Amino acid sequence: MPLKTAAIIYGGKSTEHEISIRSARNIFKAIDYQQYNPLLIAIAKDGKWYLKTKQELESEVVVQPNGNQLVLIPGASADKISILVTNKSIGRIDVVFPIVHGTGGEDGSLQGILKTLNIAFVGPGIIGSALCIDKDVAKRILTESGIANSKFLSFRKSERDQISYEKAQTILGLPLYIKPPNLGSSVGISKVTTKSEFSNAIELALSFDRKVLIEENIVGREIECAVIGNNDVHASPVGEVVTIGENHTFYSYEAKYTDANGSVTVIPAEMDSTTQDRIRDIAIKTYKALNCEGMARVDVFLKDNGDIIVNEVNSLPGFTDISMYPQLWEAGGVSYTELISKLLALAIERNIEDNKMLTSIE
Ligand SMILES: Nc1ncnc2c1ncn2[C@@H]1O[C@H](COP(=O)(O)OP(=O)(O)O)[C@@H](O)[C@H]1O
Ligand SMILES: [Mg+2]
Repeated sequence: MPLKTAAIIYGGKSTEHEISIRSARNIFKAIDYQQYNPLLIAIAKDGKWYLKTKQELESEVVVQPNGNQLVLIPGASADKISILVTNKSIGRIDVVFPIVHGTGGEDGSLQGILKTLNIAFVGPGIIGSALCIDKDVAKRILTESGIANSKFLSFRKSERDQISYEKAQTILGLPLYIKPPNLGSSVGISKVTTKSEFSNAIELALSFDRKVLIEENIVGREIECAVIGNNDVHASPVGEVVTIGENHTFYSYEAKYTDANGSVTVIPAEMDSTTQDRIRDIAIKTYKALNCEGMARVDVFLKDNGDIIVNEVNSLPGFTDISMYPQLWEAGGVSYTELISKLLALAIERNIEDNKMLTSIE
């Protein structure tokens, strides 16, 4: 069989640019070279796209805005991406692995571009990506689907006069979590108990987002489950995140990234098989409710009384050395290379299905 070309798109205009490069290096290494010929496309911090070499992927900590800048050609049958200066096509692309985290990468924007170009891509489509990135909208859909999640209030920036500590405390109790709903990596999230902390937290969240989410506090273990599939959906064994030390009262940005001893992951999590199966079942229901395809990681809280409360869904989980998603699959007996091949195959399968849909009514 001829090799298929798999393009890895990485970098991006986001705070997770560097994480994306680390994920891209791993995916590049793990691709099955018997089946795929990899191609590297990097998005610089200014948003421009460049064709990169293996050496550049390995050496650049931040994508350097130099080399062959690319242009996209919607509607083209094969040569959909070309080099700007020479106008030369970079060749046929069979599938893309977009590993650009955060805004512009996993919110449906990049998925929309790839859909417009009619290129198969890994991970949820436009709707699944957009639903998962917005925690406020995601929670409304979970509630409507009968999936337990924390009680919450949400406001637009323009509704600021309706936000009050007294009201939030009466409805949701204390402490409260205040979040910018469209961000990740715990950026802009605060856990508050007093009126002044509350006001500062609202300011902080609204400096990152045009909406703010206020949630009740859920006391429980933080459990994560990797989910894969389009029509036939499977869940991995579950893992646990344990936040360590008195400085961290939740899995904050510091506990995740800046304090090397701030947290540990336990894979697989210590748990009886019935509870684990209940979590996997809820993870699959959540994945389907939020229109996910390809892959996603579903994060839940497990309370002492056994209740499972969904926290959030990550439609483009990390693939770095310490990332949960690939490690959970390894615990389930799926190697890194098998996982990448499976994800690329799912992307191609969905694109073929999409192209079978009627586009005219004659
Ligand atoms: N309602 C909540 N109850 C208890 N802890 C929470 C709640 N919401 C968030 N947290 C804590 O904050 C962390 C980050 O919040 P999360 O919603 O997962 O945002 P992010 O997308 O930035 O990871 C969680 O891992 C958890 O430790
Ligand atoms: Mg989270």
